[in-house]
Formats: sequence, structure tokens, C-alpha cells
Amino acid sequence: MITQIHTLFFSPTETTAKVAGQITSGLDIPALTYNLTAQKDRNQHRKLSFNSDDLLLLAVPVYAGRIPEFLEELFSTFEGHNTPVIFTVVYGNRDYDDALLELKDLFEKRGFTGIAAGAFIGEHSYTAKVATNRPDAEDLSAAFQFGQEIKATLSRLDSLKDHQLIVKGNFPYKERKPMPLMTPETNEKCTDCGICAETCPMDAIEKTDNRTVHAKKCIRCNSCVKKCPENAKSFSHKIFIEFSERLIQNCSSVRKKPELFFL
Ligand SMILES: Cc1cc2nc3c(=O)[nH]c(=O)nc-3n(C[C@H](O)[C@H](O)[C@H](O)COP(=O)(O)O)c2cc1C
Repeated sequence: MITQIHTLFFSPTETTAKVAGQITSGLDIPALTYNLTAQKDRNQHRKLSFNSDDLLLLAVPVYAGRIPEFLEELFSTFEGHNTPVIFTVVYGNRDYDDALLELKDLFEKRGFTGIAAGAFIGEHSYTAKVATNRPDAEDLSAAFQFGQEIKATLSRLDSLKDHQLIVKGNFPYKERKPMPLMTPETNEKCTDCGICAETCPMDAIEKTDNRTVHAKKCIRCNSCVKKCPENAKSFSHKIFIEFSERLIQNCSSVRKKPELFFL
């Protein structure tokens, strides 16, 4: 009998947060939400432990076909005790490659049991021209429906004891290719309002000088680019521009649909 859902998400540009919110609403079980986007909140939510009457909903964006690398260390501090879990990834209409499988492998090693998984689509962090404004109403309705369907799975969990959740993905996982260090540029429209520094998930932007971005900390999540009210931040590195152009060329015409997996 599940008494509580724990919704954990990392979401620099807020598409993953929206999907996680809708799945949680569809489940209609008392929920506790842990937003793991800010460094200070991630520091607070280490070594979480869950029981068999808890349900975990994990939601992360896809970075280079994988889960964001630095989250592996945080997730490896969590512990389940036969805890059911829903794996969710949100990707920018290219592909989610091995991200769901990686998430499942990480958690199933630590006492959690996958009962459902979903790959949803969000506007690409690099360019608003790919998966523009997604998740849109259709995606959010699919996420809500997914939550409702999981409720049905939960009601017959006992009869599914010997089933294994199968998700798309390959092992060895997609190789993370090294990227040159890069940081966003700041133009003259910057008013030093501080929003970028306050919301940077990696604390990479100086609070006293919003133009200074620490390259070794920046993960190119584009939180600062999308949240700046003055459009003062952008990436102008040649590799970033070429990559974005390729994405627009290859991934903007086809509308990918959510993919769902159940026990
Ligand atoms: C560094 C980085 C790598 C990404 N890699 C992929 C990818 O491999 N495939 C894809 O479809 N989208 C990729 N995306 C796009 C995000 O997965 C997508 O925009 C997601 O909705 C962002 O989630 P958020 O709004 O919660 O930050 C990438 C984004 C970033 C910042």
C-alpha cells in the first residue's frame, strides 16, 4: 500500500519540472516534492532513504543521451528498501538514447524497483526552434494520463512481482564526448538583476558580478539564457552554434511522442 509519493526532479529550464508535476497530479497520492535543481537543495537532499510504502518519481533531463553526469554521485547516496520507482526523462526531440536505462540501472542497484518509465519531450535547452514550447497541452495531458495508468499498475503490484521493467537503451551507454569549456556571453542589456546567478544550478555565476561565469562549473544547461528577462545571456562558441544549427536542421520537423514503459 503506497502512502506517499516522493517526486524528485532536476530541471534547469523547467520542462522536466512541468512533466513531473503532471505525472504526480495523475497519480493522485499525497506528494512530497524535492526540487534538486539548486546546488544548495541538492546538498540538503543527500542520503535519502525510502521504504516499501513510498513511491519515488524521478525526473531528469537528457544530456548527450545520458543523465546529467554530476547527478550520478547524488543518486548513489540514495537508498531504497524495496521501494517502487517511476523513471522519467525529458529530452529535446533528438533522442534520449540510454538515459532511461542508465537511471534504472543506477536505482535498481540501490534497493529500488522500477514499475514504470517514461520519456517525454521538452523544448531544447540549446534552441527554442526545436520542440518549441514543449511540453505543450498534449504532452502534459499524456503525462497526467501516465500517472493515472501507473495508479492501475500500483493496484496490482503483488501480481506483477516476478515482472521486470524493460526500457529502451543499450549498455555500454552512449559515450560522453569531451566538450571544450564554454560559458555564456553577457551583452550590454544586463542589468545585474541577479536572476541568472540565483537560479544557476551549478553556482557558476558570480553573485556580485553576473558577467563572470566559471567555465569549470558551467554545464551549458541554459538556465541563465532562458531565465534572463533582458535576453542578455547567450552562448556564442562556434561549437555551440554549429551544434544548435544541426539540431534545427535534423530535429525540428518531426514531432516525437512520449514513450511509456510499464511492468
Ligand atoms: C548539455 C545538454 C545536452 C543535451 N542533450 C540532449 C540529447 O542528447 N538529446 C535531446 O533530445 N536533448 C538534449 N538536450 C535537451 C534537453 O534534454 C531538453 O531541452 C530538456 O527538456 C531540458 O530539461 P529542463 O527544461 O528540465 O532543463 C540537452 C540539453 C543540454 C543542456
